[in-house]
Amino acid sequence: MQSGRDDGLHVAIIMDGNGRWATARGLPRKVGHEAGVETVRRVVRAAPSEGIGTLTLYAFSSDNWRRPKTEVAALMQLLRRYLAGDVDELVDNGVRLSVIGRRDRLPFGLGAAIARAEAATASGRKLHLRIAFDYSARWAIAEAARNCAAAGDISEDAMASRLCGAVASPDVDLLLRTGGEKRLSDFLLWECAYAELAFTGVMWPDFSAGDLAETVAAFHCRERRFGGLPDEALQDRSAA
Ligand code: FPP
Repeated sequence: MQSGRDDGLHVAIIMDGNGRWATARGLPRKVGHEAGVETVRRVVRAAPSEGIGTLTLYAFSSDNWRRPKTEVAALMQLLRRYLAGDVDELVDNGVRLSVIGRRDRLPFGLGAAIARAEAATASGRKLHLRIAFDYSARWAIAEAARNCAAAGDISEDAMASRLCGAVASPDVDLLLRTGGEKRLSDFLLWECAYAELAFTGVMWPDFSAGDLAETVAAFHCRERRFGGLPDEALQDRSAA
């Protein structure tokens, strides 16, 4: 179990509120998702200076297949465009990109586009950006269990190392959900065992670099005990 690593915090974000943001402006939901991609760019640029080493963004849950076909297609298209259009900037900024989740149900060509973007950014060391797409934590845990069983090692370490295939999936330090809801929605359930949770009513398209800085600053004010005792209590005990 880790309490923040040398390579920075792991912050995970459930990017909620795109649809409501658009509807409130009389716009199609798709426009909310497009505005959401702008926020992704803002947050990715700001993350390293907030001490974030790994940033995992929930872009498409395995439950999102239940949405209307047009909205699903729009989200697929946005990922395709992001991979095609933003890789150069990611490389320039030292960002390594990984996509976690299922690959076997994606539209034709998207898996190959993901693999190309991952290869192009593989040497990035400033930030590991992980986009969760067709992702379900229960599926990831079950997959890891199947792989561990096949390898004959079902220890917690073996499970943790197999959660996202070959992509490292460290414990989450801080989980943030925008958009006002307070639930986990099948996101990183294993990795969030000791995560600090933060919720904001800000809709994802409105989420700013300043909001990120405030959220991280509030996280640093929390005392993480991992089931132990506060520092003062430990000192009292050793003095007794
Ligand atoms: C939840 O808001 C958001 C999603 C299901 C999609 C999030 C996707 C993006 C921000 C864009 C994709 C990003 C990349 C990098 C390709 P919601 O639509 O459920 O909002 P609502 O709760 O207001 O309806």
